[in-house]
Amino acid sequence: MITIYKAKDYQEMSRRAANIIFAQVTLKPDCVLGLATGSTPVGAYRQLVEWYEKGELDFSGVTSVNLDEYKGLSGDNDQSYRYFMNRNLFDHINIDKSRTFVPDGLEGDSEKACAEYNQIIRSVGGIDLQLLGIGGNGHIGFNEPAEAFEPETHCVDLTESTIQANARFFERIEDVPKQAYTMGIKNIMSAKKILLIATGENKAEALYQSLYGKITPKVPASILQLHKDVTVVADEAALSRIIKERGELV
Ligand code: PGA
Repeated sequence: MITIYKAKDYQEMSRRAANIIFAQVTLKPDCVLGLATGSTPVGAYRQLVEWYEKGELDFSGVTSVNLDEYKGLSGDNDQSYRYFMNRNLFDHINIDKSRTFVPDGLEGDSEKACAEYNQIIRSVGGIDLQLLGIGGNGHIGFNEPAEAFEPETHCVDLTESTIQANARFFERIEDVPKQAYTMGIKNIMSAKKILLIATGENKAEALYQSLYGKITPKVPASILQLHKDVTVVADEAALSRIIKERGELV
């Protein structure tokens, strides 16, 4: 089941998404949060930090597992997703850092890195709430458009469009990693709840195809149509194609 909330802008999207995470942590203080990187969740993380600073949230019992990491980057590299998570969230809240998991980008043996990460996801007892962004090509995590869905954590060759989209964070395009470790579709779909967030016109087509198009590995997020508890929080621009095709959301 998919429930869609329309936010008027990025700020409202961020606050609503943060609200859902707030509710999860409050109702189950020892929950497992599946977390995401990218520009989209930054505002939600900022909001969570603000609530934490006001004493309204306690992350001391929370475990987190992140979706993905670039292969070849260390956690100290300012473009790694471990670094992103520390800087945008973990350094500012009372989560136990040893309970925050991100695939090990420095493990050169892909099979080992992926098997270890699957084991971590199993050992924490699965994910209560998985936060997702969506790529302009419909990717979730780094599950890129492909001929088949990959079930578990795997090493991916990033598509040219993803490399281009990420190039803005690197000095030179050659510096953008070409591979990443990412949770697979089964890992994501096993989460009890999914929270997908999207902002901006450049996500409108992917969001429409994902929520109302054919379920296909060519649009990885389309698999979410089969999940029983998905909440989408998106701003008007990201929902523009859906609204155009299907009418105003209530
Ligand atoms: P973005 O990335 O939040 O930087 O747009 C989302 C994604 O690619 O999953």
